[in-house]
Amino acid sequence: MQKTEKQSRASSIIEHRGIYYQAFNIYSGVSGFYNYGPIGLKIKRNIENIWRDIFVEQLGSLEIDTTTITPEIVLMASGHVATFTDPIAKCKKCGTSYRVDKMLEEFYETSNDKEALIELKKLNKEGMQKKIIENGLKCQKCGGELSNIEDFHLMFKFQIGQEKENVGYLRPETAQGIFVDFKDLSKIFGIKLPSAIAQIGKAYRNEISPRNQLVRVREFTQMETEIFFDPQAEQTTFNGVEIEPMLKLEVNFGPSDGEERLYSLKELLEKKYIPNRLFAMCIYLEFKMLEKLGISDKSLYVFRQINKEELPHYSKGNVDLEIRTIHGNLEVSGIAYRTDFDLSQHAKTSGKEISVMSNGKKLVPHVVEASIGLDRLLFSILDNSVQEGKERGWEWLKLTEQLAPYKYAVFPLQKDADLEKKAAEVLELLKGKGISAYMSSTGSIGKRYARSDEIGVPYAITCDYDTLNNNTVTIRSRDTTEQIRKDISNIV
Ligand code: GAP
Repeated sequence: MQKTEKQSRASSIIEHRGIYYQAFNIYSGVSGFYNYGPIGLKIKRNIENIWRDIFVEQLGSLEIDTTTITPEIVLMASGHVATFTDPIAKCKKCGTSYRVDKMLEEFYETSNDKEALIELKKLNKEGMQKKIIENGLKCQKCGGELSNIEDFHLMFKFQIGQEKENVGYLRPETAQGIFVDFKDLSKIFGIKLPSAIAQIGKAYRNEISPRNQLVRVREFTQMETEIFFDPQAEQTTFNGVEIEPMLKLEVNFGPSDGEERLYSLKELLEKKYIPNRLFAMCIYLEFKMLEKLGISDKSLYVFRQINKEELPHYSKGNVDLEIRTIHGNLEVSGIAYRTDFDLSQHAKTSGKEISVMSNGKKLVPHVVEASIGLDRLLFSILDNSVQEGKERGWEWLKLTEQLAPYKYAVFPLQKDADLEKKAAEVLELLKGKGISAYMSSTGSIGKRYARSDEIGVPYAITCDYDTLNNNTVTIRSRDTTEQIRKDISNIV
């Protein structure tokens, strides 16, 4: 497996258990593309399930699955064709490309220049060009001079069918599929405001410098929920659930101009750090997700308010969810007040009316969006859950039961036909109850405990010779390594 330039704290397990790995490895890999192996895929699916449980089932969203190939007109309407670019400079000597805002960010972080870091967010292309010259930044590979900065388009572009004019792109976000379908869905399902539509799927960005394993890749999975509402209406309930009790929740929050600390959602609204109650509800739901993922301690995450200068073209207020990782704070989600920007743009460009009735008037709904990057989230979880294991002699992952790839490992104490038969019965029993489990009889029992700990399996059941006599097994806890003896009929 190919080594990456910066590692996750869980890299050793990720690599030797093939949790995820560079795609096209036998052809030396292609930067920015990663594949999930069987264990990583189970963890990924479990994250999806946690998201689906909260953002689809509990919220009562309509979940849809739209195409990843998108005709140009859609992305012209959304503004992506015109604005979805990053600043690029190339080395005049060796041709290496650099994403200039990230290059300057790293430079100021290394020199610990906090003011320059804040200023950087406000700079346009010309401003960044000046900073490159002022600070004498050169190619990091060969020391060559850098070219003038240009805009590099981040969407993958191609031709749909035989006609050259039929331009298509791989979607840069899953959200546009939801906006384009809103009119039809509202007709079929009689959507009433407020209402949510959700989607999980691949998004693609031709990143200039993919890096740090899953942190910045060119193909990734987004879990997005768009909440449609009437901005004039009072937001007291959502699908019958009261919003007021949610506002008592305290979360770690960093205002753009203030101190990071615990704030109640009510306080965030009063201080106008967030624009409305449905926005508060999105923070609430993301926090509930963090709890299930085992990363809700305030030392591990922050909801950060974004400066006005940094807002995307469609947004009137953004709060990012950042998780602390080996690479510093990592943005894993963005909550955005997209107003009626997208629906109005699609109405204008398609020539079709997109509106719903609310309180006796026709209106284009406003939107609050909770957009979560699954791969970055998975990276952050693994990075935070790895345990050194000095005492037991191996590293292991402390994953919550909902996240773990299997809940139980089942082991015959040693290679013995009777023990193996008994262990197979226990495995069947668990599977029959819909509990995820696997069986292994290869290697010493200590080695097998190590291997199940490594991938975060919470419990290991061992069948020994007593099991054959009295139908009891030992159950070992991953977290404490303690073992208790139980009758097979009582294990779950
Ligand atoms: N629909 C809004 C939207 O796409 P975004 O902040 O550009 O907003 C949302 O992306 C999330 O998608 C990010 O918070 C991040 O977790 C993930 N993401 C974006 N670009 C990514 C990349 N190149 N590699 C991995 N994840 C990425």
